[in-house]
Amino acid sequence: MQTILVTGGAGYVGSHCCKAFARAGYRVVVYDNLYRGWRDLVKWGDLIEGDLLDADAVGRAVAAVKPDVVAHFAALTYVGESVSDPGQYYANNSLGAFNVLEAMRANGCSKFIFSSTAATYGVPKQVPIPEDHPQWPINPYGWSKLMVERMLADYATAYGFTFAALRYFNAAGADPDGEAGERHEPETHVIPLAIEGSLRDDYRFTIFGDDFDTRDGTCVRDYVHVTDLGEAHRLAAEHLLAGGAGGFFNLGTGEGATVKEIADAIERVTGRKLPRTIGPRRAGDPPVLIASNTRAREILGWTPTHSSIDEIVATANAWRLKEGERRG
Ligand code: UFG
Repeated sequence: MQTILVTGGAGYVGSHCCKAFARAGYRVVVYDNLYRGWRDLVKWGDLIEGDLLDADAVGRAVAAVKPDVVAHFAALTYVGESVSDPGQYYANNSLGAFNVLEAMRANGCSKFIFSSTAATYGVPKQVPIPEDHPQWPINPYGWSKLMVERMLADYATAYGFTFAALRYFNAAGADPDGEAGERHEPETHVIPLAIEGSLRDDYRFTIFGDDFDTRDGTCVRDYVHVTDLGEAHRLAAEHLLAGGAGGFFNLGTGEGATVKEIADAIERVTGRKLPRTIGPRRAGDPPVLIASNTRAREILGWTPTHSSIDEIVATANAWRLKEGERRG
């Protein structure tokens, strides 16, 4: 049985990927400090509680687990927070990844899957965005991830690492079996917030700008179901273990939805009304982000199958209702 060490496996994307790995027959071990992750989302493997910034603890975990592949998710992910407190982002996201890479090097592990992001592109000059599009992030979050991509390229050249750096577009939705889902505190993402707006009288959903140069004036994003992300990570692990060359891959559907279309889908799928207010633009929002996903399709054999807006909304809504019961 091959083993995957999953840093950040108690988080949103990490937990869904643990499920995909476990179902494919891998032994999964999670390394997480539970700072923004959740113990009850660690369902598909053992948990080692530890911090990425504790290089000795990371080294001990890698030495004990002896992973065939490391899948690295653990990171801070709030764009706004990265602007007001960049130090946390460079520490956790860049230095944290460095500690993992060094622990791998010390223990003879060299296969790495990295949770990267469309935020490394900044404001795109071209959409759909191909992987060789220039990368010039517009916030420290994007830079903190891009630095890791640079490390990976250099570790591959110098130390023989192979890696798959997977640049997610807008991760959304929840496990169709209701076993995992999104639990951010605070929540900033559009789909959970719009669902909230459809459930509560004391929270009003705001559309951040309707004067963009798009089909209905609101921002277009490429929403990809988190279960499809899980499948992409499973395929990436298989690819690396089979001796594949790896590289950088966009994970998106190649299609975009506007914020208004999301809001309409929530009304259609849930049957509830979603009252909305039009507010000002949010700083740093590019009008359109859409992936070119040809590379992931051709090299990894990945096809998103759960990423229709309706399935994303339906699974996110089911998870939110279940979470409502948990919160009481
Ligand atoms: N939006 C609203 N109202 C809200 C929340 C969001 O109109 O209450 C809009 C945003 O302005 C944006 C779209 O909905 O146009 C999507 O916003 P999200 O915050 O859900 O997602 P982002 O596109 O900003 O963020 C995603 C990832 C980040 C990543 C970023 C950059 O979640 O991790 O893409 O590519 F950094």
